[in-house]
Amino acid sequence: MFTKAVYAARRQRLAKDVAKGIILILGNSEAPANYPDNCYTFRQDSNFLYFFGLNDPDLAAVIDAETGEEILFGDDVSIDDIIWMGPQPSIADKAASIGVKKSKKYADLHKYLVSAKSAKKEIHFTPPYRYHNMILLNSLLGLPIDSLKKKASVTLIKAIVAQRIVKDKYEIEEIDKACNIGYAMHYTAMKLAKLGMVEQELAGLMDGIARQHGSMVSFATILSQNGETLHNHTHNQILTKDRLIVIDAGAENNMNYCSDNTRTIPSSGKFTQQQKEIYNIVSDANNLALKMARPGITYLEVHVAVYRLFAERLKELGLMKGNVDEAVANGAPALFMPHGLGHNMGLDVHDMEDLGEDYVGYGSAAKRSKQFGLASLRMARKLVPGNVITDEPGIYFIPALIEKWKKEKTNAQFINFSKLKDYYNFGGIRLEDDVLITTDGCRLLGAKRLPITVKDVEREMKDNNK
Ligand code: GLY
Ligand code: MN
Ligand code: MN
Repeated sequence: MFTKAVYAARRQRLAKDVAKGIILILGNSEAPANYPDNCYTFRQDSNFLYFFGLNDPDLAAVIDAETGEEILFGDDVSIDDIIWMGPQPSIADKAASIGVKKSKKYADLHKYLVSAKSAKKEIHFTPPYRYHNMILLNSLLGLPIDSLKKKASVTLIKAIVAQRIVKDKYEIEEIDKACNIGYAMHYTAMKLAKLGMVEQELAGLMDGIARQHGSMVSFATILSQNGETLHNHTHNQILTKDRLIVIDAGAENNMNYCSDNTRTIPSSGKFTQQQKEIYNIVSDANNLALKMARPGITYLEVHVAVYRLFAERLKELGLMKGNVDEAVANGAPALFMPHGLGHNMGLDVHDMEDLGEDYVGYGSAAKRSKQFGLASLRMARKLVPGNVITDEPGIYFIPALIEKWKKEKTNAQFINFSKLKDYYNFGGIRLEDDVLITTDGCRLLGAKRLPITVKDVEREMKDNNK
């Protein structure tokens, strides 16, 4: 945990920004996997972690934005709980550990909210994403479950985003640690990938490293020789000659800060000529984003610059054609990269997306495009120091999408469909790094950059199949 002063300062700023009414932040409860006592790994709500720091289930907290009064709601454990879980601090002690003076039983939360409502105080809450908290909010506030997303407080959402989108030095230290775990995960996979292995052997090793050094993976590991499927969670193929393995994975450290890297490695330890040509375009795009990312530029501009680089280089390879500017304006490179260049990262791997992607990635200054590809950009904002974002360009050959565009003549003036036939078994390439925006540019997070050049990756893998 951070010091209680850190949490107190965050709450004070939140109260000031929301200004009126009651801020209600619900923690998470255990989520059963297949029967009540067999639960998924507990994950606290990130807003609760950010403002209240306590990583235990069944807690809630309120802040009166006008008076500044803060109350932690939760129950002291019974002797039965102690028998199964061991001794636990009291709720009053937990509250004291984060600088909250008052604590009450969980059952008192309902009474508190009823009386606040009768005093005509607005109750600000965030959009619930877990069914448990939807049902809870329904019973606490008497609001229909299907209205909760719409009734969530825009004032509170904006105040949280304004604070969490700029990471302080304590958070950056934690993200650096999470990235170091991510490094160990990916480096292990790069060193151990060997023809004949099943993908799940590598995925399992990586997930184990996340748990060995931190609390868990930051999202379900993506590891597949069919990397053209952007989020491929099946790991059942045997590694065979001359395939590309897209590995997109990260860790949460013990403070629940995340990392998110992608490397694409050759199953045989050496890239084919065709793979190298595409790989170098993607790694140049990744480096271009690093060169451009700095305060004052929007990430939308960086994303478009990456699309431009793709159009130029794919034209040189004969896969695209026509005027490059027009191809970019018409969204033609999205055939190859139908996702955005990156997203915010922090306590969530896609930071704060529970609050609404547009509030996080667009704010009031930018508007999300409706164009295929660009519409998937999750972070378009003007960059400021303290932003933590991912830089994850990719080129994929998705036969079904290529066939669809070909049939419908989508961007036919910019795409050489006949040449793409040679790439139907190619798969995909994505290269993802985690980036901190500094006062005059940016830096990679974590102590070391994962090998990324063709030369470095092949050097690391040269003995894998001996
Ligand atoms: N969690 C997958 C990605 O955004 O890279
Ligand atoms: Mn990723
Ligand atoms: Mn990512």
